[in-house]
Amino acid sequence: MRYPLEPDHEDMHRLAQDVLDRAIAFVDRLAEHPASLAGVPEGEIRSLQRRLLQPPPEEPEKLAGILDRVEEASLAAVETAGPSYLAYIPGGGLFASALADFYARATNRYVGMSATAPGLVALEWSIVRWLADIVGMPAQGGGVLFSGGSIANFAAVVAARERLGEAIADGTVYLTEEAHQSVGKAVRLAGLPQGALRVVPCAKDLRMDVGALADMVAQDRQAGRRPFLVVAAAGTTNTGVIDPLPAVADVAEREGLWFHVDAAYGGFFLLTKRGRAALRGIEQADSVTLDPHKSLFAPYGTGALVVRDLEALRAAHAVSGHYLQDLGEQEVPDFADLGPELTRELRGLRIWLPLHLYGVAAFRDALDEKLDLAQHAYLRLAAEPALELPWSPTLSIVALRVRAADPNTADALTRAVLERVNAGRRVFLSSTVVEGRFTLRLAILAHRSHQGRVDEAVDAIIAAARTVTEG
Ligand SMILES: Cc1ncc(COP(=O)(O)O)c(C=O)c1O
Repeated sequence: MRYPLEPDHEDMHRLAQDVLDRAIAFVDRLAEHPASLAGVPEGEIRSLQRRLLQPPPEEPEKLAGILDRVEEASLAAVETAGPSYLAYIPGGGLFASALADFYARATNRYVGMSATAPGLVALEWSIVRWLADIVGMPAQGGGVLFSGGSIANFAAVVAARERLGEAIADGTVYLTEEAHQSVGKAVRLAGLPQGALRVVPCAKDLRMDVGALADMVAQDRQAGRRPFLVVAAAGTTNTGVIDPLPAVADVAEREGLWFHVDAAYGGFFLLTKRGRAALRGIEQADSVTLDPHKSLFAPYGTGALVVRDLEALRAAHAVSGHYLQDLGEQEVPDFADLGPELTRELRGLRIWLPLHLYGVAAFRDALDEKLDLAQHAYLRLAAEPALELPWSPTLSIVALRVRAADPNTADALTRAVLERVNAGRRVFLSSTVVEGRFTLRLAILAHRSHQGRVDEAVDAIIAAARTVTEG
């Protein structure tokens, strides 16, 4: 009897080799891929989608044909793994992590609870502890790897909400307009009413006005509300600015608020000397979101939450079921008790393997390179009279606008620059709105983005800015 779902030794080799060859060829060419889909006719994309929307066949197909389709679909995309990706928050995805994932999925161990794979859970816990140590959490701290920063922020809000007990209706949360939208979403998903959110104003430097925070908390208390959580950003998505963490920590302590830091973008800059100085105060947080799929270059699907007191996370998430009664207590925590997932993949290996293979110093150097590149790009762009750079980069995001006396004209010209640069398809940039103004961003974070491509982006921005302002 032959079981087609169980390839034999030879078949496994052949299948794996074919997939590996395709993947390596793809990665080899990342730098040559068009940066985005700019200018690709809509009809072409629709036709590709229609072909790929077909249901699976009853009978087997050849692997080569299957991979052709996967490759075509992978190419028809924003090049998020290559050096050209300077939009949103890049990460890149380490090749070594992909191999770790292959191993993890081929061996398919259950790591929701420690008893079923104690060694692998310890391996993943070593990464969680390393993250907690980077942040400066105490020994009783810990955390869990999630699929991304949004889920990590959600778990943090849920842990903080626990302090309110059952009566959450008057619970109040403080953040700034520069906070990532996933924080507001987490508050909503955690069952708090829309009125729970308080937007604290920012100072001119886009950092939380901590005096205003203190006043708002006091007023809310007087009005009978229950302030319980303040969320600071450690690297905002818009401009990479870091809220004044020590001052926010002081207010949080005085007022008995849970202090969460969303360091999804900026967190791993803690590995560098400059980043550590900029992020001072993060060690006072009750919880910190870190996103290895951003500033640790892991593949998408890798986020983390670390907390000062693991019991707080456990109190919010642990449940028991009779069907789990054989599993007992373990020295290393059960991840299922620390977040919403019971069955979960082994996420730690895709971080653990590259860290062991390359060493932490390689990551520190890569992040230092991004800080240098951001300064380099900033200085070059700031020297261009057609451009206005209102903020020097705190970390590795450079924000800019076209200079014009009238803000509406500046917005339109900045948008035109974005369109021109992206139309070249050598780099891909994105925009945002800061203080109500259309703002272009250069987000330098992918491990494959080096000076050559950053200079290309800077050249393209300057050329476009001159054209649109002269035209
Ligand atoms: C500051 C910040 N927090 C949270 C998130 C959400 O993370 P994810 O996209 O991994 O869910 C992002 C995403 O860009 C972010 O920049």
